[in-house]
Amino acid sequence: MTINPQVSIVMGSDSDLPVMEDAAKTLKEFGVAYEMIITSAHRAPEMTTDFAKKAAPRGIKVVIAGAGYSAHLAGVIAAQTVIPVIGVPLAVSPLQGVDALLAMGQMPSGIPVATVTIGKAGAKNAALLAVEILALSDGSLQKKLVEYRRKLAAEVKGKNRKLK
Ligand code: RP5
Repeated sequence: MTINPQVSIVMGSDSDLPVMEDAAKTLKEFGVAYEMIITSAHRAPEMTTDFAKKAAPRGIKVVIAGAGYSAHLAGVIAAQTVIPVIGVPLAVSPLQGVDALLAMGQMPSGIPVATVTIGKAGAKNAALLAVEILALSDGSLQKKLVEYRRKLAAEVKGKNRKLK
């Protein structure tokens, strides 16, 4: 377990791990301390409530919650904390994540969940969004994000060079 994690990566099942690991990888690249927890809105509702209520007092600044099927995990956590919650819809059901996307993206007024792309791109973007939130009060993280964007643009230029 990481000491003093700032970001909590939560997922509904260990079957979500291969995708949610991409969020962890990105946070690691930015040097952001994180933890990973499996809990389920449906199968372990009391554990999920306990996690949500203790997250802020434990010093967690952002929660990333990945789940598939009728994905209530992010919303149930968001309902019980005022720290930002980012939802990652996972493509594990016959509906390939559209079910999870709608469950996370259609939160009722008053309880926001910042919903990202389905799957691995979403896990990575959730981590980047968490870094952006933390960077609001951390100048060194701001610099890392600017450098990250510079590298993205340089990669596109490199791809063009290869075309010619
Ligand atoms: C969701 O059900 C989990 O987030 C997972 O994506 C999905 C399937 O879970 P398992 O049946 O593989 O444990 O709650």
